[in-house]
This record gives sequence, C-alpha cells and structure tokens, in this order.
Amino acid sequence: MLAALLTGTSRAFTHAPKTRALASLPNILTANTRHSKSRTRSTPSTSFDDGSSPYQITTPIYYVNDKPHIGHAYTSLACDVIARYMRLSGREVFFLSGTDEHGQKVQQTAEKRGMEPKAFVMRTTEEEHKEAVRHLWKVLVDKGAIYLGSYEGWYSVRDECYYNESELVDGKAPTGAEVTWVKKEDSYFFKLSDYQDKLLQYYEQNQDFIAPESRRNEVVSFVKGGLKDLSISRTTFDWGVKVPGEEEGHVMYVWLDALTNYISALGYPNMEDGSKFSKFWPAALHVVGKDILRFHAVYWPAFLMAADLPLPRRIFAHGWWTKDGEKISKSLGNVIDPVELVETYGVDPTRFFLMSEVTFGNDGDFSDEKMIYKINANLANELGNLNQRIMTLVYKNCDGAVPVEIGPLTDDDKQLLATAASLCQVTGEAISNQAIHKYVEHMVSMVWDANKYIDVQAPWVLRKTDTERMKTVLYVLMEVMRHVAILYQPLMPTSSNAILDQLGIPENEREFEHLGKEECKVLLGRTISKPIAVFPRFEVPVVA
Ligand code: MSP
Repeated sequence: MLAALLTGTSRAFTHAPKTRALASLPNILTANTRHSKSRTRSTPSTSFDDGSSPYQITTPIYYVNDKPHIGHAYTSLACDVIARYMRLSGREVFFLSGTDEHGQKVQQTAEKRGMEPKAFVMRTTEEEHKEAVRHLWKVLVDKGAIYLGSYEGWYSVRDECYYNESELVDGKAPTGAEVTWVKKEDSYFFKLSDYQDKLLQYYEQNQDFIAPESRRNEVVSFVKGGLKDLSISRTTFDWGVKVPGEEEGHVMYVWLDALTNYISALGYPNMEDGSKFSKFWPAALHVVGKDILRFHAVYWPAFLMAADLPLPRRIFAHGWWTKDGEKISKSLGNVIDPVELVETYGVDPTRFFLMSEVTFGNDGDFSDEKMIYKINANLANELGNLNQRIMTLVYKNCDGAVPVEIGPLTDDDKQLLATAASLCQVTGEAISNQAIHKYVEHMVSMVWDANKYIDVQAPWVLRKTDTERMKTVLYVLMEVMRHVAILYQPLMPTSSNAILDQLGIPENEREFEHLGKEECKVLLGRTISKPIAVFPRFEVPVVA
C-alpha cells in the first residue's frame, strides 16, 4: 500500500512496505509516476533553482514507533505535488522519503511492546545506509571535526534532541516533551561551535536557503545565540549505527544517522561522474515540519561543510495542523488519521483541502466543516459542475463529439483562452517557490472565470438561437478545461485524468509541454464519452 503512496524513487516507499506503521498510510499520494528521461524542459528559475537541473526533493524520514498521522501525510503530500509538477514540466525528479528506524525512541517503543527493534523497523537499518553513515563519520574524523569527550545534560527522547538548561520551560523541552537527565558518559562531539560564523555567513549570502522568511529569522537568531559542540554518540543504549572502531560502545546520534539518508539514498560515498550523487546532489529541496528545522538548517549544513560536501539548495519548513482549534495530541484523542480522511472524503478532495486550506509554511486548522465546505464549493459546485455542464451540452447538442463548426472568436473568448494559456507560467512560479496554496488559488480562479464566462455566454440559450456560436463557446470551454485538467494533475491526479479522458485527450499529450501546442488542442470532431460526475457533492450523513 505504501508503495502506491509516493511517487517515483524512494527507497522506503518503492521497496517492500514492511514497516508496520507506515505500511498503513493511505493511498493519498496515488499512482506512481516514475522519473522521466532527461529533457530540456523547465520550470521558472529562482535564486535557488535554475529551473532545469535534475531535481531531488525530500521528505523527512519518519519515525516508525507510531501510527501514521496528519504530519506524515502532509509533508509527503506537499512533496508529492511539487514532484509531480516538476515531472510534468519535463524535469527529472528524484523523490526521496523513508523511515527513521534507529534511536532511543524506537528502541524504547519496541521494548514496551516486547519486540526486538529490528522486527519493528526497517530502512535506515539497511546496510548501505549504515555504511554511508560510517563513511561520513570517518571523513569528519579525518577533517578534525570530531573529538572524544564526556556528556551530561538534558535529553528529550521524544524529540531525540539535547537541550540546554536555559532552554527548558517549566522543566520540559520547549516543544513540551519530557526531558531526562543524561548522567555523565563518554561521548564523541562534533565541533559545531566552529561553524557558527560560517553558517551565519552562508545564510547571509544565500538569503533563500531557508524559507519561509520568518523561520529563517528564527534559525539565524538561534545560531547568533551561540552554538555549542554537539554530542553525537551515546553509550547507554545500543540501537543505532555503531561508531567505527567503537563497536562495543558508542552508537551514533540518531540525527546524524538520519540526516545522512539524504545522500546515502544517492549512493554516497560514491560521488563519481555518472553516479546518482553527482546528478542529484545538492538536493533541490528539503521539506520539513517547523519543529525539525534546526536539525536541517543548522546541524546538517554544518556536517556537510565539515565534510566539504555541497549544501542543499533550499530548506522549506511547513507549519503544523491543529484540529478544531486545538493542538493535536494522543492524550486529547484528536489525532487526525489520514486513512480515515481518505476513506471519508476521497483521495483527491483530501489532497485538495490539505494543500489549499493554508498558506504553505503557516499553521492550519482542520475541521470537518471546513473540509466539507471547501470540497463542495470549489470542487463539486465550481469545477465538477462546470465540467458536467460543458460535457453534457456537448454530448447532447453536438452529436457526442467536439464541435466542428467553430465561428470567429470574440474578445471574451480570446481573453478566457489567454488566461488559460498563462496558467502554466503563474502556477510554475508558485510551485518553484513552494507556494502550493497560490498554485491552487490560480487554478480556482481560472475555474471561476470559466464559470462566469459560461453564465454570460449561456450556451443553453444559444442552443436555440445560434448553434454556431454555441459550438464556439463550448469549444473554448473545452480547451480551457484541457488546461485546467492538465495543470491540476499534480494535485488531483485521478480526477484530472478523468476529465482529460472525457475530453478525449490522449494519455501521451498530458504533460505541460503539450499545453501550448496547436496539434494537442481539443480535437475537433473527436467523439467524447458519456459525461460522468467527477466530483460528487459530499452529503453529510444524517444521524437518525
Ligand atoms: N525522524 C525525524 C525526521 C528525520 S529527517 C532526517 C522525525 N520524524 S517524525 O515521524 O516525527 O516526523 C514527523 C513529521 O511530521 C515532521 O516533519 C513534523 O513536523 C510533522 N508533523 C508532526 N505533527 C504535525 C502536525 N500536527 N501538523 C503538521 N506536521 C506535523 O521528525
């Protein structure tokens, strides 16, 4: 099931989904689109992406000690939308996701359930990954970035994070997680303090490295506040990658192990020409939740700098979902189960809601009312109805085929077609900047314009007064729907393809390069199939 969840190449998700927790994630990310062959087509360029290079996009790798929740689904879904958009633009994409299987948290959970950690987890436990982590460790040792010392201090197992006394709030981690005192033990340290100035300089010179800006500012002030060396090995538990030469004692800090997945998946340490690493690294984009930005924007770049490896091009932190205004937590019993969401509302409507409800990067609040309102308004009433009206009019009044006798285009026709023609550029700009909500806004607004047009043109009236004009109007609308459905594929793959099927668009003419091609337009005279509703209204079940 999980294999179907994510697109393209991802070790964890294309291989056997044996990991218990993640195996049950819903099919929210739908069918697989493997990476396409190298092409020259592109997306709008930005200061952090040239718009045409091979594109590696990553989700965090998820802990395996818990059931899948909205957090897993949300990050993966956002990455899936971006990855699909990039692929349909003709770019070569490497989509990476997976599972984080080491660390104290996983060991503790496994022990509580009377299981061996290995029976409970997969993936970062893969030999190739462990080899890559050990290699990176040795490089860091060779570069003089690691030394042996001793550690004592506060540690949160839930966050897998060390905290200074000064960071604690009412005896807990700033995230609200419990902390425990780690008694003095031998530990290897990474010389993080050496990287304070280098990181600040890097952030300064690469203003778009961390986004959104508010999060960037938080990271900058955290680093300005001073960086202490980081304990990167532990001796009091053993579930993790063993430190080279210390097989009996030290296991590596789970974040060093986990972060390395972004390059071990590319075959690191093989960095030769022609390797996946040489093609896809530096990653175009790491998408993470705001709570784990520090690991990605401070520790990870410092490790990479120390190892003389290039830094990822962009790190984007998204916000958190609350439910009906309250923080989501197991103890409150308000966890949003993505499997249930999809079962209740369907895959595409769920994708639509989660990606459009909040500005990507901000926190958002989930409620069933908002979900139902949105999918009924934007999908059933606006998009679904429009499609149904167009297709039914064509089916009934044009002999079940795309109309042939098209009259001259009016200014209104031309304007609507011009808006449709500009959609690829404006949505591309939004996606290139991870403004997924803006991409959806452009799409929704296009559908509004088309609805206004159909109401003003009233082809159902023209049917009796001017059939040539009716056919012209319907043709214009079908052509607009072709743009809408092609460009909605990254967000709602199944429904968009159902619309394209109805329009008779061949499967090999559904990429963005086909949008502007004369020969790929809706084909005059091509028969259409009997219209079927693509987005039924969601009726709230009546409780008797
Ligand atoms: N294993 C680490 C990541 C290592 S990456 C090298 C980890 N795993 S996790 O399973 O806890 O990941 C959870 C992800 O879900 C994080 O990106 C987190 O921000 C996200 N979310 C958890 N709860 C969330 C919400 N309520 N809303 C949105 N996302 C949230 O961290």
